Amino acid sequence: GTKAPLLHKKILITAGPTYEALDPVRFIGNHSSGKMGLALVKEAWKMGAEVTLVCGPVNEELLRMLPASVQLHKIVSGQQMFDVVQAEIEKQDVAIFAAAVADYTPEQVSDIKIKKAEDSFTIRLKKNPDIAKTCGEKKKDHQLFVGFALETNDEETHALKKLQSKNLDAIVLNSLNDTGAGFAGDTNKITIYAKDKEPFHSQLLSKEYIAKDILNYLLLL
Ligand code: C5P
Repeated sequence: GTKAPLLHKKILITAGPTYEALDPVRFIGNHSSGKMGLALVKEAWKMGAEVTLVCGPVNEELLRMLPASVQLHKIVSGQQMFDVVQAEIEKQDVAIFAAAVADYTPEQVSDIKIKKAEDSFTIRLKKNPDIAKTCGEKKKDHQLFVGFALETNDEETHALKKLQSKNLDAIVLNSLNDTGAGFAGDTNKITIYAKDKEPFHSQLLSKEYIAKDILNYLLLL
């Protein structure tokens, strides 16, 4: 029906930042609030979907407002998010990778607090596994995968490259060049690209309405 277009559909959403530990008290992180991913969770749930959320460290208040039937996996690091998604992805119909996963993680994690000593201090990083890309490589015919791209320059080129290299069905671009769009706020402005389809340009809207736009676009793929 029109009111529950995602009824009986299983959808996995990644959201929030990841924290990559350096020692027991420090980490490398980013400014993702998780709000876009959590808005997608709510709208997908309203459309009747069975939602699995894999979420990095976000404000607990935001998690308390989620519908009770959402299956929540709280993780901290990119590797942990990768492991949970790997275990859950096969049974999904749709996956939306909205998390801001750290590209790199410290090569070594100290089990004791690192002491201040020299004037300069070097941290070696290694690449985190790419969750969306790994899933894209094993995508089944009935599955639809959507990624996000946050770019500061050559937005369209970079977004289209990610759509292809991660074998996604659609990619949501938010440009930091638009005021009110992106990471921490309550509004966003996006363009959605899909292969062989006209891109969709949204207005500057609340993340709730952006989430509706994204899911409605997906329903047409
Ligand atoms: O390559 P880049 O990180 O810019 O791509 C962003 C997209 O890839 C987002 O959908 C993000 O959630 C996903 N991603 C991921 N695992 C990573 C890095 C990015 O799933 N390690």
